[in-house]
Amino acid sequence: MSAALDQFFMRRALKLAANGQGLVEPNPMVGCVIFREDGGDAGSEDSEENLKRIVGEGWHERYGGPHAEINALAAAGEAARGATMCATLEPCSHFGKTPPCVDAVIKAGIKRVVIATLDPFPKVNGEGLKKLNEAGIETTVGVLESRARELNAPYWTRLEKKRPWTIAKWAMTLDGKIATRVGSSYWISCEESRARVHEWRERVDAILIGSRTAMEDDPRLTVRLPDGREPRRTPTRIVLDSGGALSVFSELALTIRDAPLMLVFGPDSPKEKKEFWESKGAEVLSLDAPEREHRVILLLEELANRGMTNLLVEGGGEVLGSFFDLELIDEVRVFVCPKLVGGKDAVAPVGGVGRELMRKAATLRGKKIEAIGTDVLITGRVDY
Ligand SMILES: NC(=O)c1ccc[n+]([C@@H]2O[C@H](COP(=O)([O-])OP(=O)(O)OC[C@H]3O[C@@H](n4cnc5c(N)ncnc54)[C@H](OP(=O)(O)O)[C@@H]3O)[C@@H](O)[C@H]2O)c1
Ligand SMILES: [Zn+2]
Repeated sequence: MSAALDQFFMRRALKLAANGQGLVEPNPMVGCVIFREDGGDAGSEDSEENLKRIVGEGWHERYGGPHAEINALAAAGEAARGATMCATLEPCSHFGKTPPCVDAVIKAGIKRVVIATLDPFPKVNGEGLKKLNEAGIETTVGVLESRARELNAPYWTRLEKKRPWTIAKWAMTLDGKIATRVGSSYWISCEESRARVHEWRERVDAILIGSRTAMEDDPRLTVRLPDGREPRRTPTRIVLDSGGALSVFSELALTIRDAPLMLVFGPDSPKEKKEFWESKGAEVLSLDAPEREHRVILLLEELANRGMTNLLVEGGGEVLGSFFDLELIDEVRVFVCPKLVGGKDAVAPVGGVGRELMRKAATLRGKKIEAIGTDVLITGRVDY
């Protein structure tokens, strides 16, 4: 047993797990590497040498499909006997869409299991570990735990905070505007940036906008992939539309057959509107809470109850301001575009009340800066 080897293979398992991002939810992303501990230099930092120890690996590829451990065991076959399994999450012990992984691990004759974190899912949470130990399998828990938790932050957020992970996306001019003073915003970003947004949309459960963006931009919010491929996931389109103002001639309304549409009404929206939209095939979520912010919280709770793990908020400024003030933006993806439009009345990306002091500014962790077409893309997770 070598801590250096455990970490080496856990890093690899975490990378494999990430391939499932956006395709496995509401399940967590999980990666798994099965390796032999015998032979070679046990403390080797040499990746070439270490890679030769691998007998099988895999990840959870899509919701409903086999779990990572099962894919890795299938790849290893008989070579799994006496080998060590490195899994980014505790193997499951319950019957879900598939039979429990711990049974397969035990049957395959795995000698030791290295786990990054326990599974917070109530039916597992320590049970998988217990079963492995009862079967006489040695276990090591907590290897690269914080990295594993960071990878599956959306999954943990849904289970622990009872809301989806919220990703705020906007494209702004160099002078920090998301539209001109009269609301013109097509197009701020370049074609490559816009194509990237469609790839993101394919990997979330829902996309949310405010009623003004719905009216001024008249977007479809459907997934149109640059290579013309059929999207693997169709996110629900959500409009925060307190008064039921969305037009029946809007693109959102005209594309109800292509992707689900949910309208979030407040207490003052007319009852006939709800009935009308429902007859058109939209879902209307009528929330009685008089405050808009309260309605946001209720909505997110409802989305989490439905198993929605990732929510992409595409604006506009007022909606993003509400989310920011409530500290509900978990991640940002921002295109900065080399254009200037000026205007003190032109909309800025994040409105709301905002912070008073610069030293209280929210900051980014895991920040990445990328040149894309003519734009610069800045992404990161928000620390409040
Ligand atoms: N460049 C970009 O990336 C981008 C992206 C999106 C939008 N835009 C631009 O942004 C402009 C619209 O932004 P905006 O700030 O004026 O409006 P917005 O944020 O799109 O919509 C604001 C409206 O949403 C409704 N709403 C419902 N619940 C809310 C809540 N909890 N918090 C905030 N609003 C809530 C409110 O009206 P009701 O209560 O009456 O429903 C509110 O007036 C457009 O010009 C659009 O072109 C640009
Ligand atoms: Zn499993």
